[in-house]
Amino acid sequence: MAEIYIRNTGERISAEEDVRAFLTNQEVVYEHWDPNKLPEELRENFVLTDEQKAQVLAIYDPEIRDLAARRGYQIWDMITLSDATPNLEDLLKKFEDVHTHTEDEIRAITAGKGIFIIKGAGDIGYFNVELEAGDVISVPENTPHFFTLMDNRQIVAVRLFIEKDGWIATSYEDPSFQKA
Ligand SMILES: [Fe+2]
Repeated sequence: MAEIYIRNTGERISAEEDVRAFLTNQEVVYEHWDPNKLPEELRENFVLTDEQKAQVLAIYDPEIRDLAARRGYQIWDMITLSDATPNLEDLLKKFEDVHTHTEDEIRAITAGKGIFIIKGAGDIGYFNVELEAGDVISVPENTPHFFTLMDNRQIVAVRLFIEKDGWIATSYEDPSFQKA
C-alpha cells in the first residue's frame, strides 16, 4: 500500500482509507493490482528479459485494458530500474527535476519501490507518495512532480500512454521547492 509523507509538516499518512482520501482530494488516481498474480520468479526480479516483460504484461492484461478503457490509454510498456541499469545515477539525476507533462503520468508498480514527489493543491506544498508492488498511481496532467527510487534502488513498473509523443517533460522552476 502507498504511504504519504507531507514534506512541510512531516505528517505521514499510512492507513489505506486515509491514503485514498488524501490522493482523491489531490486528484491523484490511486488503484491497486494484486501483486500476488505474478509467479515467484517475477517478484522482486529487476533484470527482466523481453520475454519476462511480455509475461508480466500478459498477466496484468485485464487490469491494463480496464484502465486503458476507462482513461484512454492507447499503448503501454514496461520499465525496469536497478543498479544493473546502465547510467542509473545519471537517470536518477535527470528524473529529479521538478517538471510537468500535458499528459498524466501513470505507473503500475509490479516489483520494488519508488516515490513520486508531487506539488499539492493550496497550502499543502510537496508531498511524497511512496509506492510498492501493486500500487497504481497517476500524477495529473500539468501538475509539478518528479520521481525517484527508494533506498533499495530498484523498481519494475508498467507505463501507459495516451500518445507517446505527447508525453514530454517540461521543467518547472519552483523556488519554494526544497529537495531534502
Ligand atoms: Fe514526470
